[in-house]
Amino acid sequence: EKGGYPHYMLKEIFEQPTALQNTLGGRLHEENAEVALGIELDPHAFDRVHVIACGTAFYAGWVGKYLIEALARIPVEAEIASEYRYRDPVVDERTLAIVISQSGETVDTLEALREAKRRGAKSLGVINAKGSTITRETDATLYIHAGPEIGVASTKAYTAMLAAMSLIAIWLGRARGTLEEAAALELLRELRRLPRLVEEVLERRDVVAHVAEKYHQATDFLFLGRHIQAPTAYEGALKLKEISYIHAEAYPAGEMKHGPIALIDPHLPVVVLATEGPLYEKTLSNVQEVRARGGHIIAVATDGDEEIRRFAQDVIYVPRVHPLLSPIVSVVPLQLLAYEIAVLLGRDVDQPRNLAKSVTVE
Ligand code: M6R
Repeated sequence: EKGGYPHYMLKEIFEQPTALQNTLGGRLHEENAEVALGIELDPHAFDRVHVIACGTAFYAGWVGKYLIEALARIPVEAEIASEYRYRDPVVDERTLAIVISQSGETVDTLEALREAKRRGAKSLGVINAKGSTITRETDATLYIHAGPEIGVASTKAYTAMLAAMSLIAIWLGRARGTLEEAAALELLRELRRLPRLVEEVLERRDVVAHVAEKYHQATDFLFLGRHIQAPTAYEGALKLKEISYIHAEAYPAGEMKHGPIALIDPHLPVVVLATEGPLYEKTLSNVQEVRARGGHIIAVATDGDEEIRRFAQDVIYVPRVHPLLSPIVSVVPLQLLAYEIAVLLGRDVDQPRNLAKSVTVE
């Protein structure tokens, strides 16, 4: 049932091109630069968005904040569900609550949704599991169609959630007049290339395996990224701690100098998301600061970037893509890195200790 793979997690990592195809299938319309979501929701009925989720789904929500704010110019807050439900959130009838969940059963996410609805919010679910509890309580559901995910560490659901959030952002941007046709068309074309681009990353598994071999004895890792790649850093750290039990922390790279830089020494591998984008140069200067203090840099960088080699001991290249979609391509080597390290350490990859696939208790 693992289709020849030793673990569900690896199978699901390799299913990502197909999962993405299914998330995007039938929804991209280049002829008029629109997306068709098939949901009954008035895109003009709200002027703020709360994206609410837990764990990996929360990081998808955080990327969603960047996407929706960039393309639709609506203020967005990304919120951890277990905080949201108890913090007396400011919500009204002009709020859209987007809840993201693979299982559709996470109790904190469900209760946060109920809280938002009690206060008058409209709601949209971004969900994988068909007919799950959350889908029965939202005003509308956008299924991500990633297929069943068995591995406790979420992988294909994450990239599918990111693709779904991109669709929502484009849909809102087009409907509300903030996203021009040419810019939308470019994004749609890039979305259509995603399955192939992720395939290309998967073909480079041996590069990641080499990095894993080199660093799997480390006791701590730091992950850094900026802008829309900050959540990618957090997701990479979460994957690593979940299945390898190695302590990993993530920071927005610009925060380094406000404290965490004190941690840098030759025993702390630092994974940096240094792909092309508006903050590439800024990220590079953060990398230099780490390197100057003897840190070991593992960079995820864009194909053709030779400059990064001056600062990073190891570079994992990923194909070039629109910067707003870079999290979808860049997270894949981080999933593989966590996987390869966990296997080298002999961990139970599909059933890591203390964790359950869906968290239905508070
Ligand atoms: O089913 P959900 O997407 O609501 O689950 C949310 C989190 O429990 C989940 O993403 C968790 O963080 C994963 N184990 C991450 O790999």
